[in-house]
Amino acid sequence: MIVLGIETSCDETAAAIVDGERRILANVVASQIATHRPYGGVVPEIAARAHLSAIDGVVRQALADAETTMSGIDAVAAAAGPGLIGGVLVGVTAAKAIAVARGIPFVAVNHLEGHALTPRLTDAVPFPYLLLLTSGGHCQTLIVRGPGDYRRLGTTIDDAAGEAFDKTAKMIGLPYPGGPEIERRAATGDAKRFSLPRPMLHAPGYDFSFSGLKTAVRQTLARLPGPPTATDVADLCAGFQAAVTETLVGRVKPALAAFREACPQGRHLVVAGGVAANSALREALAALARDSGLAFVAPPLKLCTDNGAMIAWAGLERLAAFGQGDGLDFKPRPRWPLDAAAPKARGAGVKA
Ligand code: KG4
Ligand code: ZN
Repeated sequence: MIVLGIETSCDETAAAIVDGERRILANVVASQIATHRPYGGVVPEIAARAHLSAIDGVVRQALADAETTMSGIDAVAAAAGPGLIGGVLVGVTAAKAIAVARGIPFVAVNHLEGHALTPRLTDAVPFPYLLLLTSGGHCQTLIVRGPGDYRRLGTTIDDAAGEAFDKTAKMIGLPYPGGPEIERRAATGDAKRFSLPRPMLHAPGYDFSFSGLKTAVRQTLARLPGPPTATDVADLCAGFQAAVTETLVGRVKPALAAFREACPQGRHLVVAGGVAANSALREALAALARDSGLAFVAPPLKLCTDNGAMIAWAGLERLAAFGQGDGLDFKPRPRWPLDAAAPKARGAGVKA
């Protein structure tokens, strides 16, 4: 079984070809970072247009890299939400058109499920596992029991961790996307110079919060005698990264306890999503897993940030689990929780 996966839900136009043996035959990612950089974040309308002009070339390149043609593809999957709807429409429409033209199944994949199942593509991790899904738009702990079968434990009550990285970088005057930039600067900084909060570290439950941390960075900047020097920037980046890492790890701890109780047979802690590319976070989570007697799995960096391989793989998993794809009348979903039964997050910063 060979599946073409298309991803257009944020600022990467991506197409990949993956087979049922977990081989990635092609993985093409056309990033729009340079297009959005002048605005300090992703502009939805610009993203949708950029996806439209890039999609054909990206799919063609994936077929060429895999040394195949459309007739070598057995099914086509696309990220059908959650995400910026203009972009999602481009990928879903392209995938449906290919499915109709070739008479092959179309699979509507939840973008978050793409991230969530990636550790099975890279490391064949068995179900169930505890997942920290941390990206630009989401920050959740989930028990992953199977394709389409998730129990959400915690979620953010305000910003996602990646969003906090991006907004903080913007405040400090660093370019978009903030995560990689902050990580680079943090390498030479003193994490202890500025004292920054660890929001909700000891709160009951499993939820996350990052907006107070962002405010603390703003106040720290305002207290500096002048514009931040290179040392100030490095120290702030190091302090911020340490605070995010400790907050994430601190909130995963109670989720791990809940996971062990719900799934005593579970053996893996997994991290996925763009922020999973951060090495300080990976190291801290690896240590937590080690202390808890669990194996730790983090996908390689280029499979942490958005890509088509995760969509193709989730498509393969869904076809194997459910025996069929989705109807061509499937409507893209700007909002699409992995665990529809999870209670709504509560807190001052919860977004509508
Ligand atoms: O999963 P992703 O590519 O797109 C979304 O679905 O959101 O995640 C992008 C996010 C951005 O907020 C970016 O700043 C963050 O992941 N990110 C990082 C790193 N690389 C990307 N955050 C911290 N450290 C990194 N090395
Ligand atoms: Zn993503």
